[in-house]
Amino acid sequence: MLRYIQNIICKRKPPLDGTHPNRQPDPVFYRRKHLLAIEGLTPPEIGHLLELADSYVLLNRSGKTQRDLLRGRTLINLFFEDSTRTRTSFELAGKRLGADVINMSVSTSSVNKGETLLDTAATLNAMQCDLLVVRHDQSGAPHLLARKVDAAVINAGDGTHEHPTQALLDALTIKRRKGRIEGLTVAICGDVLHSRVARSNIHLLTTMGSQVRVVGPPTLMPSGINDLGVRVFHDMKEGLKGADIVMMLRLQKERMTRSLVPSAREYFRFWGLDAEKLAHARDDALVMHPGPMNRGVEIDSAVADDPVRSVIKEQVEMGVAVRMAVLDTLSRGTGRNDV
Ligand code: NCD
Repeated sequence: MLRYIQNIICKRKPPLDGTHPNRQPDPVFYRRKHLLAIEGLTPPEIGHLLELADSYVLLNRSGKTQRDLLRGRTLINLFFEDSTRTRTSFELAGKRLGADVINMSVSTSSVNKGETLLDTAATLNAMQCDLLVVRHDQSGAPHLLARKVDAAVINAGDGTHEHPTQALLDALTIKRRKGRIEGLTVAICGDVLHSRVARSNIHLLTTMGSQVRVVGPPTLMPSGINDLGVRVFHDMKEGLKGADIVMMLRLQKERMTRSLVPSAREYFRFWGLDAEKLAHARDDALVMHPGPMNRGVEIDSAVADDPVRSVIKEQVEMGVAVRMAVLDTLSRGTGRNDV
């Protein structure tokens, strides 16, 4: 596997310094080398990524690609956790822009043979990859890698911390459907405690002027949630009242070290989104879910598949456009490492 990567990289080594006439550092994003979190991004930076992503939606739908944009650049998807949609989405985004894309998962990497994260970083560095997409079950792992590699690092989900591109694709979906983000009431429901999706969305939506509520059982609320500028509800009907967006979260059983919820059936009764609970939100409220869904646990199939209210498939489509925008923007980086 590693020899295969080396072969690809040795073929061409493009500059990552913005010297190509069409690859000047992005004027809004020029200070950033990595995308590690939404926390700390400014409204203009978020707005800029969403605008660029929006232009990629149109490009994708027209069937055209921009293969010259990342030609000669190497993107490595380094996934220490299972993923289908996020990894595929980054792969597609990279290929649409012309990058060489290599997928490394733990099962094929030397990490299984006892190599540490930092050794892996040193190896990747020696191979001079340009864009490194990292998913890890430890919060902060991409930040550690970012300090050790020359590549631009993109956090594709770290533990229970952040999942920035998920929040960006959610925001793009909302903006395209509602025409705005500011002033909307967004209810984020379910397992907030274990959700990096919730954390990134809270940062993005509050930064962009939405009123954010979190709704779920007290056992699934992180301590300190009140400091994040959200309103906390422990009753679905109360929490959904008047909401413009109902964002459901997966019940993350794999992260639970003790029993935090009753049976799946009980959970669905109190916290699962069905037509009856959704009726408390606005008539035109949109239903979202980052996937993968536990149907019949946090969401009823009829609601998940509702062609009018559910935008779950659209979220997947927006994922590719958002990742194209992120890759495009970061590949213009100046090489300054100050996120
Ligand atoms: C999310 C993740 O991995 O954090 N899924 C995703 O990116 N498609 C949410 C989840 O796993 O529940």
